[in-house]
Amino acid sequence: MSLHKVIIDADPGVDDAAAILMALASPEIEVLGLTIVAGNVALEHSVANACKLIGLSGRLDVPVHAGAGGPLLRDQVYGTYARIGSFDDTLVKPGSVVPAKENAIQFIVRSARAAIAVGEQITLCAIGPMTNIALALIQHPDVARGIRQIVAMGGAFTALGHRTPWAEFNIYADPHAADIVLQSGVPVVLMPLDVTFQALFTTDHFERFRAGGEAGAALYTLFSTFDRSDEQRFGRPGGPIHDAMTIAWLVRPDLFTSRETFVGVQVTGLTKGYTYADFYKKLDRSANATVVTDVDETGFIELLIERIARHGDTAPDRKTQGVSRA
Ligand code: RIB
Ligand code: CA
Repeated sequence: MSLHKVIIDADPGVDDAAAILMALASPEIEVLGLTIVAGNVALEHSVANACKLIGLSGRLDVPVHAGAGGPLLRDQVYGTYARIGSFDDTLVKPGSVVPAKENAIQFIVRSARAAIAVGEQITLCAIGPMTNIALALIQHPDVARGIRQIVAMGGAFTALGHRTPWAEFNIYADPHAADIVLQSGVPVVLMPLDVTFQALFTTDHFERFRAGGEAGAALYTLFSTFDRSDEQRFGRPGGPIHDAMTIAWLVRPDLFTSRETFVGVQVTGLTKGYTYADFYKKLDRSANATVVTDVDETGFIELLIERIARHGDTAPDRKTQGVSRA
């Protein structure tokens, strides 16, 4: 019996790939489906990449739902690696998985309402711009009751931004959506750059992904191809795998330190996407988020590697679970 019933809302994206494969290999998590948004790359590519990852994992029981092709109000911006587009076949083998007919927002709404009916709330793991989630909450506010928590990779408080000097990408790409989520009343756990920059993966770590069969080998190739290290910024070798930290928090929350606080986001003007946390209670605002501030770096790195390795021992029968949905 899984601890968490999770919809992963993603914009794959190399680090999204690690998060998705990690979740699919974690018995503590039942992945209800992937809902996909534009972000790192355009929607057609993030959907194609998600379908490839599901095919690669053999978990054809997990549906892929296409969502928003752009932000709610601001102009469209893509990630630093937008040129990646769809994962080349030499990086991730082609497969036969196609997205479901039901769109992402409808899937989130239907899943949340089903959760209310059975009295078992779901978790949304937001590892891309939060457009899909914001649309679900705006269009059908009742679904908030079916959502236990939104665990999101986003924001920057003690760390400087990386997509701009003041903003982390997921928030920057759709600040209005992030603001709606933060004001929704649904419990939000936020993994900002402050903590994702604390765990840096090196080529030695990527090499160990290869114990994870085809999925691990693909992850090795993706991370080896797209170098995310920044020794000038981090002062040591290696680069972050931001999104996987949300999955690790669900599986091993003991690896993390967090604090409740009010979090706000700038939605317009030059510094749109800037996030601030009222850690020292200067504002008369009650806490609306749990901000994760620290991680056990080795514990997180070893957990991710261990979970990816489980793709290497997947019994053939597990690969026949369910069928790909057209
Ligand atoms: O800022 C990092 C986040 O932006 C990650 O989720 C990455 O995949 C991109 O979506
Ligand atoms: Ca992402």
